[in-house]
Amino acid sequence: MARIIFSGMRPTGKLHLGNYLGALENWVKLQEKYKCFFGVVDLHALTTGYDKTEDLKENIKEMLIDWFSAGIDPERSTVLIQSYVPEHAELHLLFSMITPLPWLERNPVLKEQVRDLGLKDNINYGLLGYPVLMASDILIYKANAVPVGEDQVHHVELTREIARRFNNLYKNVFPLPQVKLTKIPRVPGTDGKRMSKTLGNTISISDSPEKIEEKVKTMITDTQKIRLNDPGHPDICVVFTYQEMFNPEQSEEISAGCKSGKLGCVECKKRLAQALINKFDGFREKRIYYEKNPKIIREIVIEGSKQARQVAKQTLDEAKKAMNLDYE
Ligand code: TRP
Repeated sequence: MARIIFSGMRPTGKLHLGNYLGALENWVKLQEKYKCFFGVVDLHALTTGYDKTEDLKENIKEMLIDWFSAGIDPERSTVLIQSYVPEHAELHLLFSMITPLPWLERNPVLKEQVRDLGLKDNINYGLLGYPVLMASDILIYKANAVPVGEDQVHHVELTREIARRFNNLYKNVFPLPQVKLTKIPRVPGTDGKRMSKTLGNTISISDSPEKIEEKVKTMITDTQKIRLNDPGHPDICVVFTYQEMFNPEQSEEISAGCKSGKLGCVECKKRLAQALINKFDGFREKRIYYEKNPKIIREIVIEGSKQARQVAKQTLDEAKKAMNLDYE
């Protein structure tokens, strides 16, 4: 039986290098071996962004353009928008009945968000239920595996708990999905801090060659390497971290050159910029095509959501039947 995968991304607009290495690159590969469902989880975005929905449409569009330009193939994978498949929300409601509150209150991700977003006693109901909605995303397609990073492992474990509880209470409807851990290399921002749009230190995969060059130029290197011939310390240099991630063929030689003082930062950065430009060459070309033809994106995702609904509806019917919610 074909193994089924579900994964989702909140619609944040154009993706940056961190999003790419952390998820998208991996998704593209997974399509070869699995039946994949990839969801734009717009309802999840509302759990914290309910008061700023004006950019949502544009963010969804830009993110989808990135997905398809990077190689997500709608012929092989089902790409859907979560809110276009209302079965997610209905299953979420059913799951909310069987999810004990303490399971949600001890969620470490929630605790982090409460701290980072300063929410304190102001947590909305939807945010508390975030993992329940995520369980619905996964289980509505009876996914067996969920590719996520370390930060989402707890959520997938909760998905298993919910599935187990449902199966025990009613009937064996759901598989217990496994985490498929993606090693997420922590791509630092151009300033060495965490890469994030709000910090303004991102490189987008859709950035033009000129923009990439410009951003790489401003990156801070080893502050003790001032003149070209000063020996540098690649291990503490953000540019070198990037070389290892995006220019692995040259990284050993670059490290040696930097340490010995033969390779200056200007040249090192030039090589990094070139590697980044090359890596996303084909991507940029496809992106231009989709930018000119946004209708195609719409069509693909409407069709994908329609196909997803057919599967989702079957699972939902089965779940409702197991709960004696079929009055015929
Ligand atoms: N919570 C995930 C994130 O922030 C996004 C997500 C929503 C997801 N539903 C999912 C990921 C289901 C995997 C499976 O990255």
